[in-house]
Amino acid sequence: MAERIKVMFSEEEVAQKVEELGRKISEDYAGKEIHLICVLKGSVFFVCELAKRITIPVSMDFMSVSSYGDGTSSSGVVKIAKDLDEALEGKDVLVVEDIVDTGRTLSYLLEILAKRKPNSMKLCTLLDKPSRRVVDVKVDYTGFQIPDEFVVGYGLDYAQKYRNLPYIGVVEGVE
Ligand code: IMP
Ligand code: MG
Repeated sequence: MAERIKVMFSEEEVAQKVEELGRKISEDYAGKEIHLICVLKGSVFFVCELAKRITIPVSMDFMSVSSYGDGTSSSGVVKIAKDLDEALEGKDVLVVEDIVDTGRTLSYLLEILAKRKPNSMKLCTLLDKPSRRVVDVKVDYTGFQIPDEFVVGYGLDYAQKYRNLPYIGVVEGVE
């Protein structure tokens, strides 16, 4: 069966949610500067749109991690494929994720980053699948909570495809 994508959140719904998050973050960090950390590749669309909606001074850095696993779920042992360019010491850091699933990758990542002594560190995710959580992760800003379905678009991929979709959808017709 050919793959089809069923829309879960339209381009307009995502844009509105990102604007809401940007406004809330700007209020919460009023008078400060914020250092956004984008976890490649899935978060790249989200971090760009979010940064444009934040009205306080923003700096950005990027990292890429891969987690060792059995292919279907992450083990939580994270290999840093590309580290950040800048130190975190003294910065108010906001880690920006596309989706929190089991929480394994992120909890390990946050542990590594906390050792770099940021002034503060919070987590913002566009999507959250709380029913899949294995490791407890404190999420400070969530775009949408979703059921246990595999979603694509707006940065999220299925076998490296569909990242470029401007909306978030569910892949149908895959085994
Ligand atoms: P975990 O929280 O350690 O299980 O891993 C989260 C990562 O798995 C995310 O950053 C995504 O790269 C990937 N992931 C989890 N659920 C989905 C999904 O529904 N679509 C696409 N990627 C997903
Ligand atoms: Mg990710």
